[in-house]
Amino acid sequence: MIDGQGRTIDYLRISLTDRCNLRCAYCMPPEGVPCLSHEEILRLEEIGYLTEIMAGMGLKKVRLTGGEPLVRKNVTSLIRQISHIPGIETVAVTTNGILLPKMLSDLKDAGLKAVNISIDTLDEAVFQKITGAILLKEVLEGIDIAYASGLKVKLNCVPVMEFNSEEPVRLAAFAKDRFIDVRFIELMPIGCGRFYTRITSEEILESLEKVYGKATRLPYEGKGPAQYFSFEGFKGRIGFISPISHKFCSECNRLRLTSDGKIKLCLYYKDGVDVRDLIRNGADEGRIREAIEEALRLKPREHYFCEPDKGNTEVKKMSQIGG
Ligand code: GTP
Ligand code: 5AD
Ligand code: SF4
Repeated sequence: MIDGQGRTIDYLRISLTDRCNLRCAYCMPPEGVPCLSHEEILRLEEIGYLTEIMAGMGLKKVRLTGGEPLVRKNVTSLIRQISHIPGIETVAVTTNGILLPKMLSDLKDAGLKAVNISIDTLDEAVFQKITGAILLKEVLEGIDIAYASGLKVKLNCVPVMEFNSEEPVRLAAFAKDRFIDVRFIELMPIGCGRFYTRITSEEILESLEKVYGKATRLPYEGKGPAQYFSFEGFKGRIGFISPISHKFCSECNRLRLTSDGKIKLCLYYKDGVDVRDLIRNGADEGRIREAIEEALRLKPREHYFCEPDKGNTEVKKMSQIGG
């Protein structure tokens, strides 16, 4: 799949649900958001069918997101189905980790290859302030179990001035004795993210270098938004996802499928191509392919997070998009 800007698109982020078992302040308001109804949500068979069509067009990697993807019923059978589709090389999940202790072995059996786990702090009080829950122990257990299972594990931390500016140094230590990538993500001004203060990748790198010594920038692998560094004596890598300070849109390789069945073209824009109603109205495969091709054609060149509103900007919360 080649988009209108000439970029190869082989990665689909599928948001399975807008529900979440946490309430991270920068992602979701404390009262939550009105949930989609059962009818509005794309059914698992519909997700499988679309993925199959896209795999026939060049899709190689699927990442399941949410809300929290592991709260979606039958997520394991979806992973089994998708990982058997010819052409799909990797099925991964981005999760808050809480349900991993319960679910990981089934997810792995089903064909899951990689897990990205969000963890913003190692302090229970800070964790509660950010997420509204006392569940840090479960997340840490989830990380341990995922790592012990041999799956590829990456940790995601969004440093925010109001909550966890002191945490990156401690979180980076996860990559010291383990082959785990720890990534720091610049807060994007989407939804509740607008109310908090971003810490830039450069500031984080500087604070890490003070403790762990000079970092070596690793060559860009040509996939994904992260720029990786190595620190001497570390088994894992430290990554920075810097959509604000270092736009990576020219390398964009992805589309998103929202939980209500729209192909979302870019994180920044609200535009999407509805495929749910097409499927439900009995469109044939050729017509659905045309809709996907339309999405590719329309995919914008880049985001404008730091410029005045250009119109069509996303109004949803990050929890409804899946990152
Ligand atoms: P892999 O490369 O497959 O590991 O995935 P990833 O790092 O893209 O996925 P993950 O779900 O862990 O997302 C990490 C952070 O990157 C989240 O904050 C996402 O919102 C952000 N992100 C992912 N894709 C994009 C993108 O296309 N554009 C922007 N601006 N941010 C993205
Ligand atoms: N900016 C950057 N990252 C965000 N995430 C949630 N909201 C934002 C935001 N406004 C992260 C989560 C999770 C990933 C899917 O997206 O912490 O790691
Ligand atoms: Fe792609 Fe949009 Fe993300 Fe830029 S902001 S990398 S164009 S999805």
